[in-house]
Amino acid sequence: MTTLQTPESMPQWSSRFAFLMAAIGSAVGLGNLWRFPFQTGQNGGAAFVIVYLICVVLIAYPVLLAELSIGRHKGLSAVRSASNLAVASGHSKRWGIVGWVGFLAATVVLPVYCMIAGQIMAYALMSFLGEFSSGVPEAPSLYSGNAYSIFWFTLFLGLTVGVVLRGLKGGIETAASILMPVFFVMLVGLAGFAMTTGAAGEAIGYLFSPRFGELTPDVVLAAMGQALFSLGVGAAIMITYGSFLPREENIGSSGIVIASADTLVALVAGLMIFPIVFAFSLDPAAGMGLIFDALPAVFAEMPMGRFVGGLFFFLAFIAALTSSISLLMISRTIGHDQFGLTPRASTLVFGAIAWIAGIATVYVDGLGDWMDFTVGSILLPVGALTAALLAGWVAPRAVMRAELANTAEPVFRFWRFMIRYAAPLTIIIILILGVDAKFGWGLNKILASISG
Ligand code: PHE
Repeated sequence: MTTLQTPESMPQWSSRFAFLMAAIGSAVGLGNLWRFPFQTGQNGGAAFVIVYLICVVLIAYPVLLAELSIGRHKGLSAVRSASNLAVASGHSKRWGIVGWVGFLAATVVLPVYCMIAGQIMAYALMSFLGEFSSGVPEAPSLYSGNAYSIFWFTLFLGLTVGVVLRGLKGGIETAASILMPVFFVMLVGLAGFAMTTGAAGEAIGYLFSPRFGELTPDVVLAAMGQALFSLGVGAAIMITYGSFLPREENIGSSGIVIASADTLVALVAGLMIFPIVFAFSLDPAAGMGLIFDALPAVFAEMPMGRFVGGLFFFLAFIAALTSSISLLMISRTIGHDQFGLTPRASTLVFGAIAWIAGIATVYVDGLGDWMDFTVGSILLPVGALTAALLAGWVAPRAVMRAELANTAEPVFRFWRFMIRYAAPLTIIIILILGVDAKFGWGLNKILASISG
């Protein structure tokens, strides 16, 4: 296949700062602020957190470096980057599967993601309007009923499409470079407040004192899924963002910055949410709605809570936007070089697909939970596994060495060991044990929700 590599399809980040903000913006999102707390709560707390941290180091970080390297090496869409790298290394172009799995994951995540982000926007507005001044009302006015969910969802998805239509520099870089720094300052302030006024001791114990008796295969599966989801690894996002990287960029050190920022935000979000959960005797295992109950409760109690609460949800909305942009960006580049669409048309087509899927989640009970499980526990692990095999076994050592040129030899050796053996084996074992432990449950749940 031949493609014209027009400047539009081959943009580059304008600076290291812009790249880092966009990549951190992609990583830091609802995965940290919404999914990490509810997954932690559903999986019993500290045991989950520890496995999550181990998975970040053993699997997510090495695969993050692999994805950035695969993307930069060829500088094309995720599918073409992967297949060209394999072909150039004397292997089958079927390795494009790395990009396809990621594309599938991104396509499934985007609608659920935008649905939750829409709710966050509604909560921001309602908080500013003072609706939570006396706690969370039974039916928050601007988020009750399907019509409102669809309205906010459509608005958020529309914004995502709008930014992606403006492209890399005018859209993504501008949004991330301004909004991410503001986000960090606010998050630290809010966590400080929650820790000093809420049940801090209980929260720290819950998050960090391990009870290894609670480690079951499906807790481990969920923790691996969370590590991948939070960094956006396995969804080919970092292949796509890596493709815009200039040759001189130091991938190893950028990867550390991205992974540390993402992990820190998750932990800080936990330290912000759980003191509140315990102080207000909420159920940590409440599931997907956890932050929507926990946070308005504390904002109701604090001075200027209406304003601070509004600001919090507004910032969560920003974090979600810089992530949803990256999800749509994958489809935009793949639609362009695999389906022959213009980048514009591609953005609109995949935006429309996400819109239809999102509406379906409103009407089919449990579909959102099911999509979340499928992505976190199956698609992302498989995407990460194929990326690891491509970087560790298919691509020659010299090619990866050149991509990680600024990395010291012992560190590179360590990375190569992780990407060839530790990461793939861990993923395979967790995937098999976890899916086996969980499958009956997952299937029953889908069937139950479909049948009524
Ligand atoms: N990593 C982002 C988050 O934590 C979004 C994302 C999720 C990206 C899953 C890719 C795959 O919110």
